[in-house]
Amino acid sequence: MSAPQSDAVSIEILPVDEENDLGSIALVTINRPDKLNALNADVMSGLKAMVAWVEATDSVRVVVMTGAQPNAPPEGKRAKPNAFVAGADITEFVGKKSDDIRVMFADNAVEALWNLSKPTLAMVDGFALGGGCEVACSCDVRIASDRSRFGTPEINLGLIPGYGATQRLARLIGYGKTMEMIMTGEMISANEAHRIGLVNHVCPPEDLRAFTLKMAQTIGSKSSNTLRVGKATIRAALDAGLTEGVAIEAEAFARLFDSRDKEVGVNAFLNRTTPDWEHK
Ligand code: COA
Repeated sequence: MSAPQSDAVSIEILPVDEENDLGSIALVTINRPDKLNALNADVMSGLKAMVAWVEATDSVRVVVMTGAQPNAPPEGKRAKPNAFVAGADITEFVGKKSDDIRVMFADNAVEALWNLSKPTLAMVDGFALGGGCEVACSCDVRIASDRSRFGTPEINLGLIPGYGATQRLARLIGYGKTMEMIMTGEMISANEAHRIGLVNHVCPPEDLRAFTLKMAQTIGSKSSNTLRVGKATIRAALDAGLTEGVAIEAEAFARLFDSRDKEVGVNAFLNRTTPDWEHK
C-alpha cells in the first residue's frame, strides 16, 4: 500500500539506515504555507489517512511531523513567516455552533496522532500556535529551531484549546505554566519552551532537519515491538495512578522476556554483535 498523498499533507519516505534495510521514516509535511499550515478539514483528513497508513505499514518505524516552508512571495509582497502550524483554520469557525464543533472535533486527527503506537517526533520551525502547539504535544518528542514560537492564543478568540492542550500541555509543563499560556494567550520563544520542558531540543534552523532525522534514525534502528511496548507503558503513567502504573510496567517488562527481540538483544550484547530486530 503506497503512502496516502494529498495537496494538504505529503509524506516523504526516508531510510532509517542508508546501508541496511531497517525500514523507513515517514516525514509528514502539513502543506498550506500561505495560511501558515493552519489545520483545515483537508489537513485533518490527510493526517487521519496518514496515521491509518503508518499504523498498517510495518516498514514505517518512525514518524516525523513538520510544516511546509514558506513559498517565495509574489513580486512586491512580503514573505509569509515560517510556521509549523499556526492553529486550527479560524475561517472554519465562522458561523459554527456547538453541534457542528462536536462533530468536527470528535475522533479528530490530533487524537489519532497521539494514539499512534509508533514513535513520533515534531520538527518545528516557526509558529506552533493553538492546534499547532497541540499537534506538537501529540508527538512523543519535540525539536524546534531557535526562531520558533509556541503559544495557545485561543483566549483571544474567546475560546480555550480544543485539541488536547488543557491535558497534554499541562502534563508536559505543569499547571502554572499551562495556565499562564492559556490565560494570557502570549507566545513564548523556543528557548523558553525548552527551559520549561515543552521542547526537547533547540537548534539553529539550518541544523534542524539533520538533527531531527538523526534522532529518528536512532529510534528507528531499535526493536519495533519493544518501542511499542515502551510507549504504551509510559502512557500508563499519564492515565493511571502511580501504583497501578508500576504494576502495568511490571507486567509489560515481564512479557518482553517472552519476545524474540529480548533474546536477540541480550545475545547480541553478550556476543558483541549487532542485534537483528524483527521489525513488525
Ligand atoms: N487560520 C486561518 N488562517 C490563518 C491562521 C489560522 N489559524 N493563521 C494565519 N493564517 C493566515 C492569515 O490569515 C494570512 O492569510 P492571508 O495572507 O491570505 O491574509 C496568512 O496566514 C499569513 O498570516 P499573517 O497573519 O498575515 O502573518 P503575520 O506574520 O502577520 O502573523 C501570526 C502571524 C501567527 C501571529 C498570525 O497569523 C496569527 O495570529 N494567526 C492566528 C493564530 C491563532 O490564533 N491560532 C489559534 C487558532 S484556534
